[in-house]
Amino acid sequence: MTDQLGFSTRAVHAGFDPDPQTGAVNVPIYASSTFAQDGVGGLRGGFEYARTGNPTRTALEANLAALELGRHGRAFSSGMAATDCALRATLRPGDHLVIPDDAYGGTFRLIDKVFTQWGIEYSVAPVSDPDAVRNALRPNTKLVWVETPTNPLLNVGDIPALADVAHGGGAKLVVDNTFASPYLQQPLLLGADIVIHSTTKYLGGHSDVVGGALVTDDPELDAAFAFLQNGAGAVPGPTDAFLTLRGIKTLAVRMDRHCDNAETLAEFLSGHPAVAEVIYPGLPQHPGNAVAQKQMRRFGGMISVRLAGGRDAALKFCSNTKLFTLAESLGGVESLIEHPGAMTHASTAGSALEVPADLVRLSVGIEDVSDLLADIEQAL
Ligand SMILES: Cc1ncc(COP(=O)(O)O)c(C=O)c1O
Repeated sequence: MTDQLGFSTRAVHAGFDPDPQTGAVNVPIYASSTFAQDGVGGLRGGFEYARTGNPTRTALEANLAALELGRHGRAFSSGMAATDCALRATLRPGDHLVIPDDAYGGTFRLIDKVFTQWGIEYSVAPVSDPDAVRNALRPNTKLVWVETPTNPLLNVGDIPALADVAHGGGAKLVVDNTFASPYLQQPLLLGADIVIHSTTKYLGGHSDVVGGALVTDDPELDAAFAFLQNGAGAVPGPTDAFLTLRGIKTLAVRMDRHCDNAETLAEFLSGHPAVAEVIYPGLPQHPGNAVAQKQMRRFGGMISVRLAGGRDAALKFCSNTKLFTLAESLGGVESLIEHPGAMTHASTAGSALEVPADLVRLSVGIEDVSDLLADIEQAL
């Protein structure tokens, strides 16, 4: 029934009906680590121990699935915990995966530094080139892992084409949908097998909680996620689940404002002499613009720029802003600025994924756009 409702209606309502006993319209923060049983095995609401399941988390998980129009949602204590779970549920020693040549630094670090120790091999390929991804496949490839748009270079991958490539090679397609959010793009409908989110970002939306999510239509994959969720225990507490749900209720209105502001700033930056290149999928000159128009509702709140004055100018720009806070992370209501080479993507230094030194990443918030423009102008 919920999949017949519009996106904003699902965001506000999916996962919880007003409490029959009290009428509470919001799911309570069930601060309970264990649940009383009526006789051995007699579970009242299906809950026994809060690592296995907690009603606040269950409400969030149902909501996450409804947002992505997927059958099964699982919540985790961080985006990296969700990433780790997806990798462990699908890969065995001797398997191979393909990752973006500009993947999020933490994803790259986990695969490069941890999973390779357990006999997993990986190759890198540009998500914007399905043929290059196909050429990176090997007989033992089990996963094609993509972000679209990517962090931080905002490359766009054609999800249906990448799904064909992955499935043609006997692999599953995982889409990290953190940058777009389910409001702008729903990868399962485009052929992906697994969607992963850092809910820390747009879903939570207020920079006050860290979390992650996995959504799939495949019951076997979901069972493997649930097994690891319980078996390894990287679950969010009930307060974190509540905060994430609370953020999600306004996702659609926030995203529209993020997109409005980012479109205006991208246009302004495109004409500025201190800026050598503006990378924003909504600009007609962006190489992924046509694909983004096909599969995204709008183009998101993230902008990357390369400074004409190189690394020094990039570092200075990051220090000069007053409203844009110099900080890692993204997707919150407040605008943030960062230098990926020295901050979020420092772990890619010296690798094939190293990011340009003159690159600055902006997470455009929902403040008044005139104030954001004035801040960027004085900082440049
Ligand atoms: C695209 C992407 N995926 C995954 C993550 C990891 O999420 P978390 O920081 O919640 O562990 C991040 C964090 O920045 C990210 O940007």
